[in-house]
Amino acid sequence: MFRGRDVLTLMEFRPDEVVALLEMAKGFKARYHAGEVYTPIHLGKTAVLIFEKPSTRTRVSTSAAAYQLGMNVIVANPQELQLGRGETVPDTARTLSRYAHVIAARVFKHETLEELAQYADVPVLNLLSDKFHPLQSLADALTLWEKKGRLNGLKVAFVGDVGNNVAASLAVIGSKLGWEVRLVGPRQLWRNDLSRLAEDAGLTGARVYQTDSLEELKGVDAVYTDVWVSMGFEKEAEERERLLRPYQVNASVMELAGPQALFMHCLPAHRGMEVTDDVIDGPRSVVWDQAENRLHTAKAVLAAVTP
Ligand code: CP
Ligand code: NVA
Repeated sequence: MFRGRDVLTLMEFRPDEVVALLEMAKGFKARYHAGEVYTPIHLGKTAVLIFEKPSTRTRVSTSAAAYQLGMNVIVANPQELQLGRGETVPDTARTLSRYAHVIAARVFKHETLEELAQYADVPVLNLLSDKFHPLQSLADALTLWEKKGRLNGLKVAFVGDVGNNVAASLAVIGSKLGWEVRLVGPRQLWRNDLSRLAEDAGLTGARVYQTDSLEELKGVDAVYTDVWVSMGFEKEAEERERLLRPYQVNASVMELAGPQALFMHCLPAHRGMEVTDDVIDGPRSVVWDQAENRLHTAKAVLAAVTP
């Protein structure tokens, strides 16, 4: 069903397929915690992971997931490849396809992933681009499923830089799973094209909207935030910090949301900026579960798409 497919945005997957991936991840997690870490269904195959930007969770969870599936992993940055000396993306994709069974990349420009996918003969996974972070959103959905006991009908508010990759991917997965996704942040940062979600929302009953009012946090199942300045946007730091300061997730914001609201963050966090220590370290924070679930969801994706 999934073999050979790219994961660039998750919009390529139907709602029932996203649920199937999450069920697989849940299965891998149960086996992992029962001591069955090694599930070598892709023994001897190779995954190449390319990172144009730093990464802790994605790099280690995706590598560990591939190893646990019996795969060999090669991690490289562009400077370690001829890519850094001007070899083209299409030529890199064609070459790597002759050795690797999966190519995964974290890139500055989403178009680089699209070009890799166009010229590669093997599946290409998005390990974060300027536009989307699809593997993160799978881990987020698995976490909410575990904590709230259901997958559909959830209400999630993303507070802060609502135009960023993590917010976009939360909106995508929410539209696949029938959630209400409230993107709460300053109008100047409303960069998300929500019209692309309309078809899925029509199927699942999801509702995704943007607002600048923190009042919209009332009653949500989770309050999600991310850094104010994403990788690659450092030049805008001063302006973003000024715009986003009123959207810091602190105790009073969590109180406004209500006692049922969990706190989520994809990490890394800038403590004292988008979130305060008491919230991220508090009893409603599920950030470490989100981080762990990167492993099990990456395993499900690699298990599913590797030819
Ligand atoms: N959440 C996430 O993608 O973290 P890293 O940047 O550490 O991979
Ligand atoms: N929005 C952040 C996510 C990091 C995992 C960034 O792109 O830097």
